[in-house]
Amino acid sequence: MMLFVRIILCIVLIFCVSVKAHYIVIVRTEEENFVSTLTKAPKYVPTWPSLDSRPLPVWYDVAKFGIFIHWGVFSVPSFGSEWFWNNWKEETETTKYSDFMKQRYPPNFTYQDFAHDFTAEFFNASEWAELFKASGAKYVVLTSKHHEGYTLWPSKYSFSWNSMDVGPQKDLVGELAKAIRSKTDIKFGLYHSMYEWYNPLYITDKQNNFTTDRFVTHKIIPELYELVETYKPEIIWSDGDWEASDSYWKSKEFLAWLYNKSPVKDTVVVNDRWGSNIPCHHGDFFTCTDRFNPGVLLPHKWENCMTIDKKSWGYRRNAVLSEYYTLAGLVKELVITVSCGGNLLMNVGPTKDGIITPIFEERLRGMGAWLAINGEAIYDTKPWTVQNDTLTGSVWYTLSKNEKQLYASILEWPDDNILLLGSLKLSKSSQIHLLGYSSIIPWKQSDNKLVIRLPANAHRGEPAWVLRIGTL
Ligand SMILES: *[C@@H]1O[C@H](CO)[C@@H](O)[C@H](O)[C@H]1NC(C)=O
Ligand SMILES: *[C@@H]1O[C@H](CO)[C@@H](O)[C@H](O)[C@H]1NC(C)=O
Ligand SMILES: *[C@@H]1O[C@H](CO)[C@@H](O)[C@H](O)[C@H]1NC(C)=O
Ligand SMILES: *[C@@H]1O[C@H](CO)[C@@H](O)[C@H](O)[C@H]1NC(C)=O
Repeated sequence: MMLFVRIILCIVLIFCVSVKAHYIVIVRTEEENFVSTLTKAPKYVPTWPSLDSRPLPVWYDVAKFGIFIHWGVFSVPSFGSEWFWNNWKEETETTKYSDFMKQRYPPNFTYQDFAHDFTAEFFNASEWAELFKASGAKYVVLTSKHHEGYTLWPSKYSFSWNSMDVGPQKDLVGELAKAIRSKTDIKFGLYHSMYEWYNPLYITDKQNNFTTDRFVTHKIIPELYELVETYKPEIIWSDGDWEASDSYWKSKEFLAWLYNKSPVKDTVVVNDRWGSNIPCHHGDFFTCTDRFNPGVLLPHKWENCMTIDKKSWGYRRNAVLSEYYTLAGLVKELVITVSCGGNLLMNVGPTKDGIITPIFEERLRGMGAWLAINGEAIYDTKPWTVQNDTLTGSVWYTLSKNEKQLYASILEWPDDNILLLGSLKLSKSSQIHLLGYSSIIPWKQSDNKLVIRLPANAHRGEPAWVLRIGTL
C-alpha cells in the first residue's frame, strides 16, 4: 500500500515538474525573442578577442588558390614597380626614376598626368573572367585602390582621382565583379590600401602623430562602406596599415560592422593588415609579410601572396623572362603552401590598356592544366601530420577531407624512377595511383622506407606529379 501511494505521488510530482519546466521554457523563449527583436544584440564587438572568435567561412580554406591583380595609374609608367610615384618622389641614392622622367616627359609632368594614359581600351572583363576560370583559381582579389589613392571605381570620396573621372571612364571594379559573377563561380574580392602617400588629409593626421583622424573619418571609412555596399566583396584584403595603429584606422569598429551587419557578413573573409602590430596576429587569415611561405605547418589559416613577376606587383614593361616564375616554380609554391595549411594568392599585373600579357596568360593556363589533373591533392584538402617527407624532402603531403586518401606531391622526379619515402608505412591492402596515369603503381614496404617504382614515361617534363595513396 505504501509503495503504491509513493508511486502515485511520484508520478504526480514528475507530471507537475515537467509541466512547470515546459511552461518556463515557453516563457523564456518568448522573452528571448521579445528581447532580441528589441535590441538585436550584435554577435561581435569591436575587440580582437571577439572578432577573432568568428569561425572562418568554409569556402576560403576549400579554395586554396586565388589570383591577385595589381592595376592602377602605376600601370602607365610600368617601370620599377607599383611604388613608382613614391620611388620617384623620394629617390635619394640613385637617379633611376628622375632620369626616366627627364628622358621621356616634359619638365613639369606630374604623376597625376599619367592617369589620362590609363586607357584600359582593350579591357574586356569577360575575357579576364574566362582566363581566371581557366587558371583553376577559386577567388580573385583586385586592387580597388593602391597607395597612390586612385580608385578603380567611381568613388564619391575620390573626386577626380577615380577611373570614371580620369582615364578609362569606366567602373573597372563593377565590370570585373559582374563578369566574374555571371561567368564563373569564382569569389570576388577587393584589395584596399588604407594609407595614401600624398593625400593632404593623411599627411596632416601623420604630422599630428595620428592624434587627429580626419583622413580616416572623411575618406577611409566612408570609402570602405561604399565598396562593401556597392560591390559586396567576399574578401577585403587590407594593406597600407603599418604607419598607424588599428585604433587610428578604426579597424575593429569597421570589422564588427562587416561581421555583424554588412551584406557579406556570412561569407566575407579578411586578411590581417589592419594597423601596426596587427599582421600575423589578428584577422581571418594571416599574410604576415609579402611572399610569406614559412615551409612549416602553422596553427592559424594563412595566405602566401606572391607575384609571377618576381620583382613587381604592377606591370613592368622592362621585365625579362628570367624574372618571371616558371610554371614548375609556381606549382612548387602552391604545393608547399597548401601542405602547410596556407592558400596561394598569385599576382598578375595587367597593362594600362587592360591586357593580361601572353606570358602571364601562359602561366595562368598552365596552372589550370596542372590543377585539372592534380587538383584533388589541392582543393578542399587538409594538412597531414607530416608536411614534407623525412627521407625525400621535396615530396609534400596533403590529406583528403575524409582522411581516406593521402596525397604525395613530387616536386623532383627521382633519377632512376625509384621514389623512396620515409614518412609512411603502408598496409598490404594499400593502393597507389599516379594522378593522370591509369595503371596501379608498384610499391614495396621495407622496415623504414617505402619504395615506389614510378613509370618512366610519366616524367614528360611535368611541373610536379601527385601520388594518391589509399587505405592507409
Ligand atoms: C614648371 O613650373 C614652374 C613652377 O610652376 C614654372 O616656373 C615653369 O615655367 C614650368 N616649366 C614649364 C616648362 O612649364
Ligand atoms: C569581350 O570578349 C568576349 C569574348 O571574347 C566577346 O564575345 C565580347 O564581344 C567582348 N566584348 C567587348 C565589349 O569587346
Ligand atoms: C609628434 O611627435 C614628435 C616626436 O615624438 C614630436 O617631436 C612632435 O612635436 C609631435 N607632433 C605633434 C603635432 O604632436
Ligand atoms: C622540408 O622542407 C624544408 C623547407 O623547404 C626543408 O628545410 C627541409 O629540409 C625539408 N625537410 C626534409 C625532411 O627534407
